[in-house]
Amino acid sequence: MKFAIAVYVKRGKGSVKIRNAAPGDARGITHVHINSWNTTYKGIVPESYLRSLDFEDKAAFWEKIIAEGKSIVSIAENDSGEIVGFASGGKEQTSDPEYLGEVYAIYILESHQRMGLGKKLIKPVIEELINRGFPNLVIWALEKNACRSFYESLGGKIVNKKPILMTGEPLIEVAYGWEDIHDILEYL
Ligand SMILES: CC(C)(COP(=O)(O)OP(=O)(O)OC[C@H]1O[C@@H](n2cnc3c(N)ncnc32)[C@H](O)[C@@H]1OP(=O)(O)O)[C@@H](O)C(=O)NCCC(=O)NCCS
Repeated sequence: MKFAIAVYVKRGKGSVKIRNAAPGDARGITHVHINSWNTTYKGIVPESYLRSLDFEDKAAFWEKIIAEGKSIVSIAENDSGEIVGFASGGKEQTSDPEYLGEVYAIYILESHQRMGLGKKLIKPVIEELINRGFPNLVIWALEKNACRSFYESLGGKIVNKKPILMTGEPLIEVAYGWEDIHDILEYL
């Protein structure tokens, strides 16, 4: 997987480089993953579930994902070489007969949200999904997550809904779909 390096600059935050993930990035991605889960899902996902997130388990997961190379993973890295966000995607994971490409995750540290980084991170993932021949796209988000407006701002429409069990009461996930994956590019 190859994609171009873009540079994003925001006053006061220095520059942020977008690149594809390399083997040494697993722990930096994990830091963002766990940190962003805690800030985003506090009050939505049960506290016990958030507390149970284990850094070493997640780091091993990301190491495997990067080493296998099946998933597309883009990262945002600041001037100090710290990872501040990531996005990942690949083949849809539940054998959905209609939607074949999926963005699995996109998480940015709270300090770097709402600066346009989300669009910069998701773009190379979409471009690589297109390169790999996926005709359409789905992205799942928790219904209670206000950040799902991000997908609406990219032209996504709700196409599915399902309960997801973590701990306690099931939560509802909604799926945003793009019938033609190329359509999302006009927003990026
Ligand atoms: C969701 C996320 C990836 C978006 O990335 P971002 O860099 O913050 O978003 P962008 O600056 O590219 O936003 C583009 C547009 O998306 C919409 N948007 C993004 N975040 C939003 C939010 N929290 N609430 C409402 N609208 C939002 C807005 O329309 C925004 O445009 P604007 O800032 O000009 O109003 C990022 O905020 C994030 O990591 N959030 C926490 C984790 C999360 O919820 N991930 C998604 C899990 S499904």
